[in-house]
Amino acid sequence: MDIENIKRRTDKAEDEVKLLTELFNKLKSSVSNGNGAEVCMENASDEFTDLITLNTKLKHRLAILKRALLEEKEKSAGDTMENILDSLSQLFISAVARAYPDIPDPPVPLTTSSAPQFGDYQCNAAMPITQLLKAQGIKVSPRDVATRIKENLDNSGLIEKIEIAGPGFLNVWISRKHCQSLLTKILTKGVLPPPQPRKLKIVIDFSSPNIAKEMHVGHLRSTIIGESIARLLEYLGHDVERVNHIGDWGTQFGMLIAHLQDKYPNYKTESPPLSTLMHFYKEAKVRFDTDEVFKKRAYESVVKLQAGDPEYTQAWQLICDVSRKENQMVYDRLGVRLTERGESFYQSRMEVLVKELKERGLLEEDDKRFIMWGKNKDLIPFTIVKSDGGFTYDTSDMATIRYRIEESKADWIIYVVDMGQATHFVVLNSCAEKAGWLNPSKVRVDFVGFGVVLGEDKKKFKTRSGESVRLVELLDEGLKKALDTLKAKGRDQVLSATELQEAQEAVAYGCIKYADLSHNRVNDYVFSFDKMLEDKGNTAVYLLYAYTRICSIARNANITVSELEQAANTIPVAITHEKEWKLAKVLLRFPEVLTKITRELYVHTLCEYLYEIACTFTEFYDCCYCIEKDTNTGEVKKVHMDRLLLTEATARVMKQCFNILGLNTVSRM
Ligand code: ARG
Repeated sequence: MDIENIKRRTDKAEDEVKLLTELFNKLKSSVSNGNGAEVCMENASDEFTDLITLNTKLKHRLAILKRALLEEKEKSAGDTMENILDSLSQLFISAVARAYPDIPDPPVPLTTSSAPQFGDYQCNAAMPITQLLKAQGIKVSPRDVATRIKENLDNSGLIEKIEIAGPGFLNVWISRKHCQSLLTKILTKGVLPPPQPRKLKIVIDFSSPNIAKEMHVGHLRSTIIGESIARLLEYLGHDVERVNHIGDWGTQFGMLIAHLQDKYPNYKTESPPLSTLMHFYKEAKVRFDTDEVFKKRAYESVVKLQAGDPEYTQAWQLICDVSRKENQMVYDRLGVRLTERGESFYQSRMEVLVKELKERGLLEEDDKRFIMWGKNKDLIPFTIVKSDGGFTYDTSDMATIRYRIEESKADWIIYVVDMGQATHFVVLNSCAEKAGWLNPSKVRVDFVGFGVVLGEDKKKFKTRSGESVRLVELLDEGLKKALDTLKAKGRDQVLSATELQEAQEAVAYGCIKYADLSHNRVNDYVFSFDKMLEDKGNTAVYLLYAYTRICSIARNANITVSELEQAANTIPVAITHEKEWKLAKVLLRFPEVLTKITRELYVHTLCEYLYEIACTFTEFYDCCYCIEKDTNTGEVKKVHMDRLLLTEATARVMKQCFNILGLNTVSRM
């Protein structure tokens, strides 16, 4: 039985018990008041007995359910990592509810404190609650409100101390013992994700390049950001479908096939390479725009293709395969996984959808086209049927969202697409709501937009000759530059050939991904290998180095990971020194950071966090010896196992962040 189910049933049983008890009391008092006692005494006593039995049974059932709920909770807490901010929030919400039961849904803002003298966390509920009370005609000072909240706080062992400061801030010091046990769990059980209210079915639409056109840097952004969000949501335990919604349908194929018939007569059995195909595509477009006869042929070809004519279908397949192979090379090198379900998949569904929307009177005829206005007052409508009877990008997205909701049963749909398409997705949601397919209170839909990739000249990213950059070549250039950087540091002298190659790939692909992910996605970003490969600041190179260095600390003292795990069972992690405690608290914010990203879908938050870990670790390592060596002989004199445990916990949390970002780490570089 899952936890949600138990919760629902417990609530229901609780309600039933309450209702019965009320009924029981009412009956009892009406009988003892003598209201019609003579008449109904006989019946009432029967009813009493029944009610009492039922009540007892229900109470028993309730107790069983409550126990099951507790067990489930404990069990699921076993494979999760506590979100301290959430736990504190819960404590404060309950305290406020107890202190002020008459205020519905009071605000309980909670943040990490800005400085150590204000504790670790700060709750700022007293001020807004004072205002709410004032509105009810009750005059109290925020400090009094804070005191009352404090008095009602149920300390579960998470809080060490609370102080009321200034006008009524509640400063919270969290329990070090409690934190220590959470750190130990990182060493004994691994870095676990924060608990989730329930497992969701999530469809994430990313990468989604177009066939017969080269995948460009915009698609690279979508690929990198989408992959990272998918990894995060999978790590949280959700059921994630990574969908490549490729542009493999529409007029362009009619045009292309008609052109191939003239220029590449054996197109049915063999397709030209992608570069030639792209060239043909451009030529076909020119002919389409200037030659009426060709245009007509192109349209006829689309009709045949969409009607499933085997010859045209075969040609289309071949064309798709060429692009697919090229794209797959990029995905393989970047470690990206996707399931292809392109626009063509929805052809039959589009036919059904158009018919249905027409019948329901949701389409409006406009200059031979059929358009649809959404539920909200959007600027533009969707074009569902073109004047030539064909479908559009709008039609296919309508069919797609419907499919994802009704057939894939998605609880959450995420589109990772450039900002240029923001309006399209606003209208899409609006139309899907109007059609009655999308209910925003049931299905969450997010448009994860991102800015344009610019060259170092701040203009649209292009090759020197003005062509759009081939992604495979871009990755090759990254590899070359990464190797140059490693060699400039003399790493080729120290590492074996395999190690060097591993480091080269980790750095090359890592820096391309990290540069993209570490910027706020809505902004445009300048693609510069030189900047990406810097070894200072919030860059992949700096962080990968930091990570390998951290991993090497215990290794250099000949202590293995399993020895550390063993030690964690008996030795508490070091948190006494100010810098140890600071690092510990940063590490324990991991669940909080992931929860925030899940809410907002800004991955750069994770990069900032990773950088914060690396910097805080450096502060700690500069002040606290982990291993003391004899300055003359170099012999190990003392091993601070508790600090090595903190070091290992740091490495593990960092590693998990790298995993989510899609960066490969290496043990030596
Ligand atoms: N193929 C589109 C493009 O290159 C992106 C598709 C995004 N997904 C969607 N469901 N519309 O712009």
